[in-house]
Amino acid sequence: MTRASEPGSPLVEARGLSVSFASPKRFLSRHKPLIVQAVKDVDLTVNAGETLALVGESGCGKSTLGRALIRTLPHSAGRILFKGEDISKLRGETLRRARAGFQMIFQDPYASLNPKMSVFDTLAEPLIVHGTDNRTAIRRKVEEMLDAVGLDRAFASRYPHEFSGGQRQRIAIARAVILKPDFIVADEPLSALDVSLQLQVLKLFDDLRQRFALTYLFVSHDLARVFGFADRVAVMYLGRIVEIGAASAIVAKPAHPYTQALLAAAPSPDPKLEATREVPRLTGEIPSPANPPSGCRFHTRCPSVMPLCRTLEPEMRSAGPGQEAACHLVGSPAN
Ligand SMILES: Nc1ncnc2c1ncn2[C@@H]1O[C@H](COP(=O)(O)OP(=O)(O)OP(=O)(O)O)[C@@H](O)[C@H]1O
Ligand SMILES: [Mg+2]
Repeated sequence: MTRASEPGSPLVEARGLSVSFASPKRFLSRHKPLIVQAVKDVDLTVNAGETLALVGESGCGKSTLGRALIRTLPHSAGRILFKGEDISKLRGETLRRARAGFQMIFQDPYASLNPKMSVFDTLAEPLIVHGTDNRTAIRRKVEEMLDAVGLDRAFASRYPHEFSGGQRQRIAIARAVILKPDFIVADEPLSALDVSLQLQVLKLFDDLRQRFALTYLFVSHDLARVFGFADRVAVMYLGRIVEIGAASAIVAKPAHPYTQALLAAAPSPDPKLEATREVPRLTGEIPSPANPPSGCRFHTRCPSVMPLCRTLEPEMRSAGPGQEAACHLVGSPAN
């Protein structure tokens, strides 16, 4: 499990992965609790060294998929492979050890940092938990990490409330990276920051990836933001991956009507253009994941819907080099 991975080889894989939740039974309701399939039969490969962005509207299952991949949330079906080994059934101490290679970074750094712990203790804790007990080594690693995330070493004795939002996110990132994990799930790590800070923190993510040979699953609902940053993009809709491919290919030629609609609705980076642009909106409500539409889950909102789409769920098909989409129109003469 500690073998190094060749850049580009599969690092984390989901095979037929599903995660369901039983929604809480309503008080005095005679109905059975609803089962929400937050992630449904997902196949996904994250390659060593890449940044894979996971995008899609709120509630489509991005966070659930990210957490299930790093085994912090139980899955209901399917397998998870890490460096080719099945980790879906690990329990207890072996699971805990495997998870040292995985880290998560959240949207709100304030919520993910303990307000009662100094920066030094916040960064030292994961080292101590995973067996480093030499104080000199701990101090050296904490200082190295503070340098790497662009924070003054003198900040080590301060507490989270003494920092700005951007600095707090740097502390949370330092804590996630200090054990040199193989794989980081960053769940909307920019959403709480203003635009100028977002760019700085993105640059930090990229620097750290190169320096520490990290691999990211970067969860975001902001398509425009991830395209310049991610190597590949996976698009999720109602618990399913509907399109995946190189970021440059998807932005140039999105194959799935859902990706096309998301891209059309994404704000333009040019504020003047943005002010005058008519934004095509995705019509219709997002259906309930407890009762997803038959056939293609997107058919109730799709501008190109055909009768077939209501009955047959499309499989992933090649939509170009390294690009795949789950749509009956892809690869057909009409496209
Ligand atoms: N602990 C839970 N119990 C019950 N249902 C849940 C739970 N966590 C998530 N869900 C449901 O699973 C679905 C997917 O949720 P998830 O949080 O993964 O979406 P998301 O894409 O991360 O959304 P957002 O962009 O808002 O963060 C939603 O319908 C959500 O209500
Ligand atoms: Mg989420």
